[in-house]
Amino acid sequence: MSNVARKVVLTVAENKLVTNFVNKYGLTLGARRFVAGEKLADAINAVKQLNAKGICATLDNLGESCYEAKTATEGTMEAIRILEAIHESGVDSNLSVKLTQLGLDIDEKFCLSNMMEIVGKANQLDNFVRIDMEDSSKVDATIAIFRELKEKYPENVGLALQAYLYRTEKDMDDLSDLKPSYRLMKGAYNEPKEVAFPQKRDVDDNFVKIIKKHLDAGFYTAIASHDENMINISKDYISEKSIPKTQYEFQMLYGICSNLQEQLVKEGHKVRCYVPYGTDWYPYFSRRLAERPANIVFILKNLLKK
Ligand code: FDA
Repeated sequence: MSNVARKVVLTVAENKLVTNFVNKYGLTLGARRFVAGEKLADAINAVKQLNAKGICATLDNLGESCYEAKTATEGTMEAIRILEAIHESGVDSNLSVKLTQLGLDIDEKFCLSNMMEIVGKANQLDNFVRIDMEDSSKVDATIAIFRELKEKYPENVGLALQAYLYRTEKDMDDLSDLKPSYRLMKGAYNEPKEVAFPQKRDVDDNFVKIIKKHLDAGFYTAIASHDENMINISKDYISEKSIPKTQYEFQMLYGICSNLQEQLVKEGHKVRCYVPYGTDWYPYFSRRLAERPANIVFILKNLLKK
């Protein structure tokens, strides 16, 4: 989607009337396509189905921008429950989290202590936590928290970085002493041209650049995209440089390009699907609409059918 169209959808999505309407009817109108369900058990079932197709997962309890300590503590407890449920059910999945769900907007130290608990649990259960990247105002704090966690639990935490931000390549350089595991993706938020490339072409170029750079550095690279062009360029580079299969994976979102996910598995690549669940699905859902106009048409068609 063009940057202007994306901004329009994200701005409309912030409108209170639209929010109320979609919160009430959204799941039945089509949000369910992108969200595994409202409960953790729904999400574990979705992961079982993906695992049966050779696709592993990363589970995400939907929620962000919380301003009450009680809510952040609940988010922390749910993240720990996810790690326990993965362990008990034996599914192949790790965990993804957003720091604003865990208290980043309340107090950075509080958020760090919540994350220490979560990543400590992942360490105990031999699992892994990926920190999603949110809007550009959160990048400095997210990186600072990632650094502390990574120093304490080097094997159990990774970060997501966005190709649309001018700063990302420098952030990668600054963090290279940590030998980080990154999920690299284009970026999903409504960012001004002062901080992010306005043109899709430049975002794509930077995406390719940082993927190659991270693969060349020998660090684990999760290539998170549904863009076949980006995927093919990555596949060619991986083959040309004989990058081992243990050093990369492809990642896609639940309900998007499922055939492509299965095709990559058949070709022998590791594929991880991001599986979100929970009641607070609206912000996630509006970003998925903003990425692709056809998704809005899909929702409108469902609305007309009702
Ligand atoms: P692009 O937007 O160019 O789309 C290429 C093609 O993919 C489209 O033509 C269409 O076929 C398909 N496609 C893309 N989006 C679609 C959609 N919503 N519905 C249907 N088809 C779609 N962002 C962020 O800022 N922080 C984060 O932490 C994450 N985390 C994350 C995890 C994973 C596993 C993925 C795959 C993505 C993210 N993202 C994210 C979102 C990411 O930044 C980006 O917005 C989307 O992946 C869309 O970009 P693409 O690379 O898919 O390409």
